[in-house]
Amino acid sequence: MDGLLKFITCGSVDDGKSTLIGHMLYDAKLLFTDQEKALELDSRVGNRDGKLDYSLLLDGLLAEREQGITIDVAYRYFTTDCRSFIVADTPGHEEYTRNMAVGASFAALAVILADATQGLQIQTRRHARICSMMGIKYFLFAVNKMDLAEYSQQKYQKIEKDIKKLAADLELEHVEVIPVSATEGDNITKKSANMPWYQKKTLLKYLETVDIKEGIEEKGFVMPVQKVCRPNAAYRGFQGQIASGSIAVGDEIAVLPGGEKANVQSILYLDCPVERAEKGQPVSIRLNREIDVSRGCVLARDADLKVSSMFTASILWMDDTKLVQGKNYLIKLGTRILPAVVMSIKYKVDIHSGEEIAASKLHKNEIAVCDICLSEKTVYSVFAKHKDMGCFVLIDRVTNMTSACGVIRHPLRRSDNITWQKLDITRRFRAKRMGQKPITLWFTGLSGSGKSALANEIEKRLNLSGKYTMLLDGDNIRIGLNKNLGFEPEDRIENIRRTAEVAKLMNDAGLIVLTAFISPFRADRQNARRIIGEENFIEIYVSTPLEECKKRDVKGLYKKAMDGQIPNFTGISSPYEAPDYPEAEVDTSKYTLEEAVEHVLGQIKRYL
Ligand code: ADX
Repeated sequence: MDGLLKFITCGSVDDGKSTLIGHMLYDAKLLFTDQEKALELDSRVGNRDGKLDYSLLLDGLLAEREQGITIDVAYRYFTTDCRSFIVADTPGHEEYTRNMAVGASFAALAVILADATQGLQIQTRRHARICSMMGIKYFLFAVNKMDLAEYSQQKYQKIEKDIKKLAADLELEHVEVIPVSATEGDNITKKSANMPWYQKKTLLKYLETVDIKEGIEEKGFVMPVQKVCRPNAAYRGFQGQIASGSIAVGDEIAVLPGGEKANVQSILYLDCPVERAEKGQPVSIRLNREIDVSRGCVLARDADLKVSSMFTASILWMDDTKLVQGKNYLIKLGTRILPAVVMSIKYKVDIHSGEEIAASKLHKNEIAVCDICLSEKTVYSVFAKHKDMGCFVLIDRVTNMTSACGVIRHPLRRSDNITWQKLDITRRFRAKRMGQKPITLWFTGLSGSGKSALANEIEKRLNLSGKYTMLLDGDNIRIGLNKNLGFEPEDRIENIRRTAEVAKLMNDAGLIVLTAFISPFRADRQNARRIIGEENFIEIYVSTPLEECKKRDVKGLYKKAMDGQIPNFTGISSPYEAPDYPEAEVDTSKYTLEEAVEHVLGQIKRYL
C-alpha cells in the first residue's frame, strides 16, 4: 500500500501509547544508532529494570519524562518499506483532551489503546467519541498489556466484545482490534508466539496495508482569504491556502459571503506565476475586476458552502468553567474570528451509553449538540461536506483560552428571512433634535454598593442640564421585562443581554441611558459593550467593598444569603468580576452621595 498515512494514538494514562509507537519504530529499525544508545543509557535509570524503555523514545519532552505522562501533541514522521506515516501522539490525561482533539482533526486513522487488564475505560470511550466527531473513519483498537493478562484469549474476547458494542453505538465503519503487548513486542511488528489464537495482521502490517478512502469528498474549489496583498497600486492579490479543489487562470469564482463573481486573472504559487493550483498550495490570486474582498472572505467555485449566521454543531467542551446557554465567545471559523453565542444546548451525549440527555450546562470533556449564533453572516460548510470549513473552536473572550472545538452539523435558517429594515428617521437625526449624544452609562457593582442611588442622582443632574434620559434599574426590569429570569449564570447572561438591547434601542431613540445592574460577569459586560457599541458604552464601576455592602444590607439580603437562604448571591455564593478598565470608578463608602455624584460626573463629562 502506498500513500501517506496520518494517524493519531490515544489512550488513557499508562495504557502504554508511547511504548507502543516507540517499540514499533525500534523494531522496524527506524532508530538512529546514537538515539538507540541514548535510550539504553537512559533506560538504566528508567522504570523497566535495565531493559529498554521504549516510551522514552517518544516522550521527547523533558517535563513529560519527569511526570511520566505525555503532555503535548508530538508529531513523528517515519517510513517503512511499504508506507510513510505521520503519527500524532497525544496525551491520555483527562486535562489534555484539548490536544487530542487537535491531533484528531489532522488524522485519517486512530489507534486507540485499551488496557487488557482494565477493560474499556471511560477515557477510551471518550477518545473514540472525539475521534469520530472530528471525522476519523478508521479505528484500530490495540488491546495492550496482553502479557499482564496472561495472553488470555478469553480476556481479550471480552474487551473485543465491548469494543464492537462501542463501535456499533458510534456507527464506526472501519474497526480493527488487535491484541498486543507494547513492552514485550507481541503483535507489534512480529506475530506473537504467545497468542497463537490470534491469526490476523500485526499492528504495523495493518497500518502498512489499510486502504484509506477519504471519508469526505470535498466538492469544488475553496480558498479562505488570509490576507489581501497590495504591494503596489497596480497589484491586488488575495492570499490563502487552497482548502479544496483546484483553480485555473480564467475560471469564474464567487467571493463569499457577498456572492459577487469574477474571473481569475493570474495565480502566483511561491511567487511564480502558474496556470493552475490545487488543494494544499498557498497561492496569491488576482481577479479580473475590482471586488470588495477582505480577510475572512472565501473564494469559491462549485463548492458546498453555506452563508448564514446560525447553525447546529456538535461540540466538545474543554474549559474548566462550565458552558451555560447564552454565553458569548469568539469563534474561529476558517480564517475568521468573530463573536458568537451558544444559544441553546439541545442535548449532551452520555459518554458511556451514547444517550441524549437534556442539559442547560456543559462541564469539561462533555460532548453536546448546540445551536450557535454568529454576530454576522459567515461562510462555512457542514462538516460532512468539507472538513476545514466545517470545524471551529470557541475562544473565551476574557481568558483567550480555547473553550471548545466543534463540527457543524447543519445550518439554521431562522435568521435568513429577516433583514434589517432601513428607516428614514435615523438615530443621528433623533439625537440631533435632542441636542445630545446618546450614550449608555452602565453602572456595575455589588448589591448595596450604591448603583441605583447614584444613577438616580446623576439622572436628575443630567435632566437639570437639559438632557433627555432614561434609567433602567435592575430590580425594576426584573419586575417587568425580565420577570422570567432568576440568578443562575445563564439567567444573568440573558438579563444583561436584554437590558443591553433595550439600552441600545433607547440610545437609538436619542436618549442618554443609565443602567444599574450588578452585572457581575466581565464577559456579559463585554457583550453589552458590543451590543451598545464601544463608543457609546461608559462603564462605571461602583467599587464599594463587600464588607461595607454587607454592613449596609439595606434589603436584608446579605443576611439571608449568609444564612444560606438565597442561592447564587453575588459576593457570597456567586462571584463578582470587577472591571479591568472602567471609564469611571467610585467607592461610595468614601464619600457622601453628593460628593460621589460629583466624582463620577467629573470622570464622565468628556463622554457626554
Ligand atoms: S444581575 O446580577 O443579573 O445583574 P440585577 O442587578 O438584575 O442582578 O439584580 C440584582 C438585585 O436582585 C439585587 O439588588 C437584589 O435586590 C436582588 N437579588 C435577589 N437575589 C439575588 C442574588 N442571588 N444575587 C444578587 N442579587 C439578588
